[in-house]
Amino acid sequence: MGWVRRLPVTKEERFRPRLADIMLTIALSKGKMLDLTLDVFRRAGYALGNLSTESRRLVFPCPEIGMTFLIVRPTDVPTYVEYGAADVGIVGKDVLMEQDSDVYEPLDLGFGACRIAVAALNGLASRDRLSSKIRVATKYPKVTERYFNQRGMPVEIIKLYGSIELAPLVGLADRIVDLVETGNTLKAHDLVEVECIARSTARLVVNRASLKLKHAAITELITKLRAVSRTSIIQTGKSAPRKSSRGARRAVRRTRR
Ligand code: PRP
Repeated sequence: MGWVRRLPVTKEERFRPRLADIMLTIALSKGKMLDLTLDVFRRAGYALGNLSTESRRLVFPCPEIGMTFLIVRPTDVPTYVEYGAADVGIVGKDVLMEQDSDVYEPLDLGFGACRIAVAALNGLASRDRLSSKIRVATKYPKVTERYFNQRGMPVEIIKLYGSIELAPLVGLADRIVDLVETGNTLKAHDLVEVECIARSTARLVVNRASLKLKHAAITELITKLRAVSRTSIIQTGKSAPRKSSRGARRAVRRTRR
């Protein structure tokens, strides 16, 4: 025989892959948040090679840092992570609030701050108008339904995919529920904010199985990103696992230390 394959010496060596051998697949939200996300990774010490917001490429393997980045629509990030196509994702809390995804949410990254708000045409924002059934246009039908249901207000929800501010201008809706960051888009369309429903920032989400199987690599990532983020760890809310095993809960606790 021309070669001899070295057998693993210890049980540990056989079953525990080296950290350097583990590749993490990370789904990043394209659009407004991508530049901020790349900045956080770079500040955390990750060399991202040719990953740039200019490129049309959707997959960026970065073997030097043991990571492959996928560039996906923000609303698709929880799906990639929940199904294990990505181990980790970076996505806004607004998206997580709208989707009931079974993913861990161990870190608030603090950037991308905005709010989900109710808005109306200037002069038509009076609260008493809300007593009769109103039409609300939004990208967030579940958040909107929950919000108005909790207040006992009957609404007809019109699902749109973008340019929500247009709806009241052309008589499609009485109200909108949309993201507000600077407020400039509302102002540009003579709309005023009626109420803030929730605040949102970028969150790191993790696949349940990956957290166990790639625990060391994911813990290292969380630790490094946490060090350059201004907010602390959270592990609450709708995006927490619906049911988690004792082992997985222990794994999350260990990442908090
Ligand atoms: C978002 C949101 C508002 C705007 C708010 O839209 O839906 O339209 O940003 O930002 P501002 O308060 O800073 O003006 P986005 O640019 O994502 O596009 P879309 O309308 O197609 O969803």
